[in-house]
Amino acid sequence: MRTVLFPQGFVWGAASSALQIEGASSPAERGESIWDTFCRREGSVHNGDNAAIACDHIARMPSDVALMKQIGLKAYRFSINWPRVMPDGVGAINTAGLDFYDRLVDELLAADIAPWLTLYHWELPQALFNRGGWLNRSIVSWFADYTDAVVRKLGDRVKHWMTLNEPQIFLWLGMSKGLHAPGLKLSTREVLLATHHALMAHGRAAQVVRAQTPVGTRIGWAPVGKVDYPATDTAADVAAARRMTFAIDKPDLWNNTWYADPVCLGHYPEDGLRAFGSDAPHIAPGDMELIKQPLDFYGLNIYAGTPTRATADGGASVPWPIGHARNALNWPIAPPSLRWGPRFIWERYKLPIVITENGMPNLDWVDLDGRVRDPQRIDYTRRYLFELAAAIDDGVPVQGYFHWSVMDNFEWAEGYKDRFGLVHVDYATQKRTLKDSAYWYRGVIRSNGQALTLAADAAMQLAEPTVADVEEFSQQPAVAIARS
Ligand code: GCO
Repeated sequence: MRTVLFPQGFVWGAASSALQIEGASSPAERGESIWDTFCRREGSVHNGDNAAIACDHIARMPSDVALMKQIGLKAYRFSINWPRVMPDGVGAINTAGLDFYDRLVDELLAADIAPWLTLYHWELPQALFNRGGWLNRSIVSWFADYTDAVVRKLGDRVKHWMTLNEPQIFLWLGMSKGLHAPGLKLSTREVLLATHHALMAHGRAAQVVRAQTPVGTRIGWAPVGKVDYPATDTAADVAAARRMTFAIDKPDLWNNTWYADPVCLGHYPEDGLRAFGSDAPHIAPGDMELIKQPLDFYGLNIYAGTPTRATADGGASVPWPIGHARNALNWPIAPPSLRWGPRFIWERYKLPIVITENGMPNLDWVDLDGRVRDPQRIDYTRRYLFELAAAIDDGVPVQGYFHWSVMDNFEWAEGYKDRFGLVHVDYATQKRTLKDSAYWYRGVIRSNGQALTLAADAAMQLAEPTVADVEEFSQQPAVAIARS
């Protein structure tokens, strides 16, 4: 038995990213990014899909924010499209592009939804890629100039900033595996150089945001949390899972510490240096100091994890049982990743945790009666949130949870085939429909998590709380619930 108790002021949100929803992609509206180019390359994206229109969010922003308000979101995580702000990546600013984000922030604040802004969710301007992109050390100052333009415009109102989203994915999948833009298969040495520059760009951007925003502005980042979690609660399995969560056993970039140790501790991890050997980047004086900037929170994107058990040589993954639950992208359903991921990261880096992404792809459609029934998403989120509550109960300072995603959108190389949203999008008509999960999540938000203990149907019916309800919720002792 465990308890479900989310702290007062817990941030209940949902997330998106610019390319995945915005549309408005004509040359008059924005510059090109590496993703536009990648989408045109045959065989790169499922079905030849692209993000030219996506959810047409730029044109529909006010009504999309109204939907967020209807769901009751306390916060909305979005990203800025770099070439929309600076078509060439540096130099001239596209005023109309920057104005869009200005209006978005105002619209959110008017709806009482806190804007959480990500500076880089993978849209490297094509013009900068042509100059070497992340392989060119100048990108540190290019990114700083772009950040400066955004902060000058929005820094007075945006209180939460994230520098890089999932460096693991854009560096490793994009530059080593060739599966994401720019679709390169570079040598380990080159990818590590690009990674070093990306980490420096993070540090420099954090400095720029810090210098130009009011005291109290909070800065973090949003890497992927690669989580190995203990198959049982025994001390030996916990130690094995912790070790594997942080280990770099082989010279590839799918790990936590090659990114997070420099950012949070100021040095590359010893085992990574051993594994990469002479491929490790040259570190110039001052680089590590630049990379390690004070941060206010650690954003974690967690969708899945791997059960792990202790073995004589440290630990091993436990194979999934036959028939184990999976989502539309075939990722295993692994709720304990949301307890152990935050816990391990907190233990090592001592930064408050915010879950900046968690959610599941599904094959949702609109039923004949107009409703979108997505019970798997509700059950998935409920199980994961129980585990997040367990992390809080363990003493981990978890400050917020952002569901991925607020609406169905362009899922990168997977195109539009799988749907992650709380809101269903009909791409032909751009009609939005709140899914059952949106109504359910509204109940969770209204009750600050207590609705997790109710049957899904009852949670969906939870009315807007009265003042008395709010008091009752806040005074309620933690509710004991059974965890699977
Ligand atoms: C990521 C990105 C999102 C994805 C989401 C689902 O985590 O890969 O941040 O843009 O759409 O994670 O894969």
